[in-house]
Amino acid sequence: MSSSTSPALPRRFIAKGPLTGRIRVPGDKSISHRSIMLGALAVGETRVSGLLEGEDVLSTAAAMRAMGATIERQADGDWLVAGVGVGALLQPAGALDMGNSGTSTRLLLGLVASHPITACFIGDASLSKRPMGRVITPLSQVGAGFTTYPGGRLPLIIAGTALPVPISYRLPVASAQVKSAVLLAGLNTPGVTTVIEPVPTRDHSERMLRGFGADLTVDTDAGGARVIRLTGQPELRPQAITVPGDPSSAAFFVVAALIVPGSDVVLENVGLNPTRAALFGVLRAMGGHIAEVNPRTVGGEPVADLHVRASALHGVTVDPAVVPAMVDEFPVLFVAAALAEGRTVTSGLEELRVKESDRIAAMHAALTLAGACVTETADGLIIDGSGGKPLSGSGDVAITTHLDHRIAMAMAVAGLASERGVTVDDTRPIATSFPRFEHLLAEAGAA
Ligand code: S3P
Repeated sequence: MSSSTSPALPRRFIAKGPLTGRIRVPGDKSISHRSIMLGALAVGETRVSGLLEGEDVLSTAAAMRAMGATIERQADGDWLVAGVGVGALLQPAGALDMGNSGTSTRLLLGLVASHPITACFIGDASLSKRPMGRVITPLSQVGAGFTTYPGGRLPLIIAGTALPVPISYRLPVASAQVKSAVLLAGLNTPGVTTVIEPVPTRDHSERMLRGFGADLTVDTDAGGARVIRLTGQPELRPQAITVPGDPSSAAFFVVAALIVPGSDVVLENVGLNPTRAALFGVLRAMGGHIAEVNPRTVGGEPVADLHVRASALHGVTVDPAVVPAMVDEFPVLFVAAALAEGRTVTSGLEELRVKESDRIAAMHAALTLAGACVTETADGLIIDGSGGKPLSGSGDVAITTHLDHRIAMAMAVAGLASERGVTVDDTRPIATSFPRFEHLLAEAGAA
C-alpha cells in the first residue's frame, strides 16, 4: 500500500542505547531514478544492482512501464530494465501516479516533452503543492504544451511534441531536477541542447548519460558557470549499474551516532560525490569524528565507508555556497545543531521551502516542540544548541511531518537525544526513500 492511501502511522522515538556495529544504507535515490529512466531508453537489457526499492523509485518504474519499458526485480535483488530506445516511449493508458516524488515528476516531464505523448501526472497532497513552473518554462520552449492546476501544480497534463526544439537554458534556480528535465528532453531532440548552470548541482545525470554513451560535454564559461551540451538522439547502450549507498540516507545515522553518547558505527558504501557530500564536511567542522575508510569507485561514483563516533559538537555558520551539495540534509543538520555547544547559523535555504514540505517552517516547529532553541528567518534557521544536554523531547505530543520523509527521520534522530522521546505524527512517508530506516535503527541498538 502506498503511503498516501494507508492510515497515518505515528511513532515515538526514544534512545535505548548507543549506535554500534555496521550499517548498510540503501541505494542512492537520485541514481536509482536515473538508472531506471536511462535503462528504459537504451535498446537491450540494463542490470541495476543496489536499486533503492523506495516508493519514489517504484513510481518512476511504474511510469516507465506504462510507457513501454519492461522492468523486473530478479530473485537476487538486481533489477532488469529492457529499454525501448530513445524516441520510442509509448502513450500511457492511464494517469501517471507520482506519489510523493518530485524527482520522478520533473524528470519524467522532461522525457515526455520531446515525445508525441499526452500524459496526466498526479501525486499526493505534498507533491500537489509543489511548483512545476520551473520545468514548465523550459519544456514549453522545447515545444511541449501544459494544462495545470492553478499555480502550475499537479494534477497536470503535458502534451509532448513530435517536433522538439533544442534549447539553451540558463537555470534560474540551483536545481538538478530542472537541469535533468531539460537534458532528458534533449535526448529525443535533434541538435544540441544546452544547460547553463551558474551554481553547480548534483551531476548524476551528466555522469550517467555519458555512461550510457550519450555525447555530453561540460565546460566552464567566462563567468564560471557550467555549460552542459548534449547532442540529441543518441543510441543509448545498456549498462550494468551498481548504485552506491545514499549519502542523504546515511546522514540520519551519521548524526544519530554523533549525538547519542557512546556510539561507534561504520556506515558501509556511502556515496561521496562532491556535489552531494557537503554535510559531512560541515559536521566535521562542528567537531564530529567522521573518518572515510576504504575509499573506492562504485558505478562511476566515489564511495567510502564512514566510521563515526559520538562527538562533542559546536555551532558553526554554514556557508550558503555549500547549500546545493547538501540541500536535502538540512533537517538533520538542524538536529545536530540543536545538540551542539553554541550557535549555528544557516542562510540561503529558500529552496527548502518548496521541498516535500516547507522544511524551514516544519523543522522550526518540530524542534521547538522538542525543546530546542530555534529562530526562523526568511532563508534559514538560527539554532542555539544545548551543548550536548539531551533535549526535553515532545513526549506524547506529535510533531507534524507534513508527509515529508526527511522531517520524520530527522525528528526520529532528535528523539534519540531527548529525555521524553519525540513522537512523529506519521512515519509512512519514510518508505518513499528509506523503507528499512526503523529496522536499521533498532538493529544498531539505538531505538
Ligand atoms: C534531486 C534534486 C534535488 C533534491 C531531490 C533530488 C535529483 O532537488 O532535493 O531530493 O535527484 O535531481 P532540486 O533539483 O529541486 O534541488
